[in-house]
Amino acid sequence: MAVSATREAMADAGEQLAVLAGRVSELQAAAAQLPGEQRALFEQLQHAIEQLHREALLRLVRGLREEAAAAARLREVVRDPLVFGVLRLHGLVRDPLEQRVRAALASVQPMLAQHGGGVELVAVLPPDAVEIRLIGACRSCPASMQTLRHGVEAALREQAPELMRIVELGADPAAADRGAQAVSPFSPAPGGGFVDLCALEELPADTLVGHRLGGRELLLYRRGDLVHCMDNRCLHLGLPLSGAAVEDGVLTCRHHGFRYRLDNGDCLDLPGVRLPHHAVRLRAGRVAVKLGA
Ligand code: FES
Repeated sequence: MAVSATREAMADAGEQLAVLAGRVSELQAAAAQLPGEQRALFEQLQHAIEQLHREALLRLVRGLREEAAAAARLREVVRDPLVFGVLRLHGLVRDPLEQRVRAALASVQPMLAQHGGGVELVAVLPPDAVEIRLIGACRSCPASMQTLRHGVEAALREQAPELMRIVELGADPAAADRGAQAVSPFSPAPGGGFVDLCALEELPADTLVGHRLGGRELLLYRRGDLVHCMDNRCLHLGLPLSGAAVEDGVLTCRHHGFRYRLDNGDCLDLPGVRLPHHAVRLRAGRVAVKLGA
């Protein structure tokens, strides 16, 4: 009885949260349509309120951290996605190191792909080290190598300033076997567990295409040399994301406007919440997908 009451309360809270997040999105969209002066005023008001909240939360977090038991409790409470999302919004907590490393590598992947290369994450070695490997043409073009290496390092240091060691490993012995393969930087374990899905040519550029794999509805989007794959199920009410609008790397659900980053599934309307995103491998004109969580 108590358990089912708790579940119901959680479901209610989830619904309320979704409604609130939807309302925030609507208001932001409406504000974006305001004439310049009014919009600037709105943005100043929003910024001032956010600053006020940030300062209060900062004092709260600092106060709790001073006492060991309170600090431990704080770490537990921060596991709540909403609490984590709000604290992250104000820069008071960070995503786990591996998540930030993956995000950094994903952000430079398009640049590397333009040069026919890419970067693989080999290992994250907490608390302050990471091993990576540049692949493809990145390794065979000395002139651009240095620039690309700097780009990767700069992205990693921006996302994970605590990194003390960024170790670039030599060529992967299996690289010769990969040929023209491109591996998504999101792949947690390149090379294993991929399931053939379709021909690359079945994915028109800049178009959302639905597929089904292992009883799961997926949505694919091809952008240049990259293919993104995510669950075809909006985190708001669970409706399909097919038919969503895509602009500037952001997918907007056609139902109520929830927005997601194409490259990693981050929900822009619910901070800290992420649409399940899957590793993609391209080989010999075929698209293979490795389902994530
Ligand atoms: S925004 Fe409501 S279902 Fe997607």
